[in-house]
Amino acid sequence: MQIARFSKIGFIMAATGSAVGLGNIWKFPYQAGKYGGGAFVLVYLITVLVVGFSIMLTEMLIGYLGRSDTFSNFEKLAPRHKAKWRYAGMQAFSSILIMAFYAVVIAWVLNYIVTSFSLLPSSVAQAKSTFSGMLQSGFFVQFFYLTVTFVIVTAVIARGIKGGIEKLNLVLMPLLFLIIGGMFLYATTFSAFSHAVTFMFRPDFTKLTTTAFVTAVGHAFFTLSLGMGAIMTYSASLQKGQSLVKSSLLIIFFDTLVAILAGLMLFTFLYQYGGKPSAGPGLVFISLPVIFYQMGGVGNFLSIIFFIALAFAAITSAVSLVEPTVQYFMDRNGWKRTKASVIIGLFFYIFGIVVIMSQTIHFSSYLTWGGRNLFSWLDYLTAALLLPLGGLVMSIFVGFIMPKSQVEKVLRPELGFLFNAWYFNIRYIAPILLMVVIVSLLSAQ
Ligand code: PFF
Repeated sequence: MQIARFSKIGFIMAATGSAVGLGNIWKFPYQAGKYGGGAFVLVYLITVLVVGFSIMLTEMLIGYLGRSDTFSNFEKLAPRHKAKWRYAGMQAFSSILIMAFYAVVIAWVLNYIVTSFSLLPSSVAQAKSTFSGMLQSGFFVQFFYLTVTFVIVTAVIARGIKGGIEKLNLVLMPLLFLIIGGMFLYATTFSAFSHAVTFMFRPDFTKLTTTAFVTAVGHAFFTLSLGMGAIMTYSASLQKGQSLVKSSLLIIFFDTLVAILAGLMLFTFLYQYGGKPSAGPGLVFISLPVIFYQMGGVGNFLSIIFFIALAFAAITSAVSLVEPTVQYFMDRNGWKRTKASVIIGLFFYIFGIVVIMSQTIHFSSYLTWGGRNLFSWLDYLTAALLLPLGGLVMSIFVGFIMPKSQVEKVLRPELGFLFNAWYFNIRYIAPILLMVVIVSLLSAQ
């Protein structure tokens, strides 16, 4: 049962901190680049607004009314079959699967902050070999920064909702906005800025394949932290009377803003210096450092603050990935917060070590199945299956299982005449779309 409550601004910052992460600054630009820009961005924006908003409200509602860990929330709110419905709360455990590879990417980012102080790679070939060298034979470097990640995330969570999570986000989020906003403004002074705007906002529908479409929808879930119990767990600490609708809209606004600003900035730099937007996951770790090199002295500075911003974004998200499981063990097993934080922390840490090994020359063959190593299995399975599945379960639960009167009591006053549209959406449109996405993503790969 939650006792500590976020302050109003604390909740907005913590949930925004959860949403704004590697998904916005690392994944979104490379996916937009890979799938041709404008049309992908358009599908993403529509999904975020229509489905993302509805599911975020749904997830917040369950947390707000349940006031507990994810399992207890479903159990409490289900009018019948309580014991069975509590398993819907298992979505909290999938966040640890995300965390196992997410923490590894944070380790790369921390490493890149430090290396940005010295020489940057002068060519794409050199940057590629630095990056793949780190993956294939830089076990100890990754291990070291994974340990740092483990210590930071565990220490923050052990300090609790107010003293740890809220404080962290109240400090890091404004700094993150400052850095991304500042770098974006700098990017607007380049001649290639208009090229980047065209690329991101002029849709070329011939590029919109089924895979691009479902990836955009899947990404909308990932970026808003939906379907994993993160928003639900934070919402259990919402103050009474805080508007769920306004909070959701603000979080979505900030999340989208950061993705768009980061995308425009990255594509401007790429076009200005002759890089390709379709570079894939290496966009930030391979193409970008070369561009920073080409910028000269200012490049080192930009590289340092860029990776610092990325680390801030990622750490605030990581905390929200671990908190749901910690909350579970506190509420249901009576563990103290410190014990739960350390044990869950150790779990993702050890799992993360195995993920690092899955990319090394020595162990990759043991940790690769069906052409995918463990890292890419976790990334793919969580985005393609678990997050949309979590969203599907929640929309069915609120749409069909919870008594309408209970839902209406909280949301009708806030949504007014839009209540019926939202209710229809989570009962019919969102579940169908989510089922289509799950099936297509699973069959497309
Ligand atoms: N929203 C985060 C990002 O965009 O990087 C990732 C994430 C955090 C996904 C928390 C799911 C979650 F529960």
